[in-house]
Amino acid sequence: MSSSDGHGVEVSIEHVRKSFEGGLIRSLEDVTLRIGPGEFISLMGPSGSGKSTLLNLIGALDKPDSGSITVGEHQIENLHSPSEYRAGVVGFVFQLHNLIPTLSALENVQMPMLGRRHSRKAREARARELLNEVGLSHRLNANPGTLSGGERQRVAIARALANRPRLLLADEPTGALDSVAGERIMALLKRLREQYQMTTLVVTNDAGVGATADRAYRMRDGRVEPIT
Ligand SMILES: Nc1ncnc2c1ncn2[C@@H]1O[C@H](COP(=O)(O)OP(=O)(O)O)[C@@H](O)[C@H]1O
Ligand SMILES: [Mg+2]
Repeated sequence: MSSSDGHGVEVSIEHVRKSFEGGLIRSLEDVTLRIGPGEFISLMGPSGSGKSTLLNLIGALDKPDSGSITVGEHQIENLHSPSEYRAGVVGFVFQLHNLIPTLSALENVQMPMLGRRHSRKAREARARELLNEVGLSHRLNANPGTLSGGERQRVAIARALANRPRLLLADEPTGALDSVAGERIMALLKRLREQYQMTTLVVTNDAGVGATADRAYRMRDGRVEPIT
């Protein structure tokens, strides 16, 4: 398999520091973490402990002050094109789905594929396949406003998978859902990982998720430590 086949990448984070406001807010003090290819990892920690900061750095939405982050063959601090990396390697799922309200589920899932040399037909077929995969083949033409919170998150997950990411980053994907819908989303993420083998990092405040991940970590004092 070549590295573009969609299977998971290794993520290696070494002594990463990140502060804001000229050093006043020290979000990450010294984060070191290795995630094996295709692993499903959970990350917990109180609000404000730096979980989103870390995901944003791994996703090249921001840069560390020091330390290094390697995702597969990509050195994140020295990326030639962060946007290409984000579009081609990473899939993001956020707490709030960030779907475009005026577009249908089918159109939303196609968004990341625009400008990536797919025919319109191939794009739509891929979006259909993914929506079928997340159990929404009956809601292809529904706008986000007419879907439940759990269904919207399913669309967001399908969209995150559009370009066959080798790394899926999910930032509290169940944070806005009730516990039943949340459990279904987690089960879905795990099944999709089994199927596509992408490396998956899920930030969650739900201890139950941590228990079923391959490995569970928490953030404390600006560091990541294993939960034993
Ligand atoms: N862009 C930013 N500018 C200033 N401070 C920020 C920024 N992003 C995060 N922070 C601060 O960094 C700390 C960690 O935030 P965050 O990573 O969002 O935590 P979590 O996701 O664990 O709730 C907080 O004190 C937050 O206010
Ligand atoms: Mg956060």
